[in-house]
Amino acid sequence: MTATAHRTHLCGALTREHAGQTVRLGGWVHRRRDLGGLVFLDLRDRAGLVQLSFDPRWSQAEVIARAASVGPETVILVEGEVSLRPEIGRDASMASREVEVHVRALTIAGPAVTPAIPVARNTGEELPSEELRLRHRVLDLRRPELQRNMILRHHLLQRTRQTMSALGFLEIETPILTKPTPEGARDYLVPSSVHRGEFYALPQSPQIYKQLLMVAGYDRYFQIARCFRDEDLRADRQPEFTQIDLEASFVGPEDVQAVVEQVLVDLWAEAGHTIARPFRRLTYRDAMERFGIDKPDLRHGFEIRDLTTLVAGDAAPFVRSAIDGGGRVRGIVAAGQADASRKELDALGAGAKEAGAGGLIWAKRTAAGWEGQGVKAIGAATLDAVGGEVGDLLLAVAGADAVTSPALHAVRMGLARRPGVVPTEPHAFCWVVDFPLFEQDAATGEWSPAHHPFTAPHPDDAGRLRSEPWSCRALHYDAVYNGNELGSGSIRITTPELQTTIFELLKIPEADIRRRFGFLLDGLAAGAPPHGGFALGFDRIVMLLAGSSSLRDVIAFPKSTAARALFEGAPTTVDAKDLAALHLEVTGEG
Ligand code: AMO
Repeated sequence: MTATAHRTHLCGALTREHAGQTVRLGGWVHRRRDLGGLVFLDLRDRAGLVQLSFDPRWSQAEVIARAASVGPETVILVEGEVSLRPEIGRDASMASREVEVHVRALTIAGPAVTPAIPVARNTGEELPSEELRLRHRVLDLRRPELQRNMILRHHLLQRTRQTMSALGFLEIETPILTKPTPEGARDYLVPSSVHRGEFYALPQSPQIYKQLLMVAGYDRYFQIARCFRDEDLRADRQPEFTQIDLEASFVGPEDVQAVVEQVLVDLWAEAGHTIARPFRRLTYRDAMERFGIDKPDLRHGFEIRDLTTLVAGDAAPFVRSAIDGGGRVRGIVAAGQADASRKELDALGAGAKEAGAGGLIWAKRTAAGWEGQGVKAIGAATLDAVGGEVGDLLLAVAGADAVTSPALHAVRMGLARRPGVVPTEPHAFCWVVDFPLFEQDAATGEWSPAHHPFTAPHPDDAGRLRSEPWSCRALHYDAVYNGNELGSGSIRITTPELQTTIFELLKIPEADIRRRFGFLLDGLAAGAPPHGGFALGFDRIVMLLAGSSSLRDVIAFPKSTAARALFEGAPTTVDAKDLAALHLEVTGEG
């Protein structure tokens, strides 16, 4: 559908094959160069750029004058002849740069006010602030980088549908106006005008519906699902985001993981990368022990070791008291990193402190033995027991695991950023399995599901569910890529009795259980197959494959960090009469 009422070709699609042809093009004026009597415009459309040449040899004076007057980002229609560019102007990186169009006619179709932010940038020119770009999103979306991202997103969506369909999954849409589905965030609520005082919730995920589809016998479901979560935002979180959501019946964890691996292999292939499967598997315990985090970046070694049993009597009192208080001494013996400067060590220490540690113990292994403040802290005898090669750097933290794990994770990532440290592989995928069923909030002491309350307990631990629920593991698994959580899933609870037990352990009052989850319990009572599933964060995947650092670069109209839509201006206040129709009133101070 390139040739339409207004054009015959796309600008970026013209090649030397078109030389000699008369074409009609439409697009945005990217750049103008005025050489006194000669004018060059770069015309841009979704396919790329082409140079338009206005020259008295083929353009009438009034056409040249009009070309000289058009401002950037004006939409123009032109007609002219494709011609090979002189050797000097050719840019082999873009086929259309090999040719230019000798313009005979020019119409201004969409005049543009002076753009608030530039679309065309010179190499090395900084982008305007993100806030400004979000305010002028239509202009920012014209940037070739963002167009590339959105095109990549499209291809990844199509590939997902192909893969899922080929694997026998049915794409089924679930409601947006629904009942709250707990995924650990606050709900966005939608008041009903018909039912006074009653609210729909926007889904945090299609979790319960996809389980009900399994109960209903649909066997394999998927959806490119929009999810809504009112939670604190970070660069890798948006209040409204997209998941590749799937569920399958009569499956175990490995079956679900095999499907997810296939999707990831295909999506990475779509972006030009070959990745190997099966992915490595780590238990949650192992991940925490060796990497200090449940989403380890396996592109680097620098594994964490438990040094507690090596700590000898000459360790400093603060180290001894950390151990006596039930803590451990854990550290990384970083091969060949002893050339770290004092400034770098201070930065690593600052990272560890920011993550909650009291400080970072360090020592360098030289030909003469261990040197550095760590000799006093951890003791020479301990360091001898640690071993290591000349040129190694020991970085250690003493304290409870809740302190040493995040601190040493920060240290690992700091080491990975050191100049000269190269990743062992570009794409490090792994499964983290056997998560705990529940987790405790450090501040309030309250227990909540580590994932969501529909996750089945690990069969080896299920016998302890009533007596020691907090020690049970779950059939819950995460897909991790280069230190990013790509997605989560689990095998589900399939009986109303076990599901009710979990709700009771979470101290949900009986009446609330019926009110909030009665429809799920009734569904499970209707004959539920064993089932499980997964959800991949689609925006996150596009962001990583596009090489962007923000989800906002891969979502057409994203929210700001303050959860605002800056271009369209949402959320907004509404008229009192609209509130009244919904039986609502805004009270209190903002
Ligand atoms: P979970 O809550 O772990 O699981 O979400 C799955 C994946 O979705 C992505 N994600 C987000 N992406 C952008 N912005 C957000 N605010 C955001 N929140 C989550 C992450 C995450 O790994 N129903 C379960 C899945 C299941 O059990 O099948 C669920 O939603 O990449």
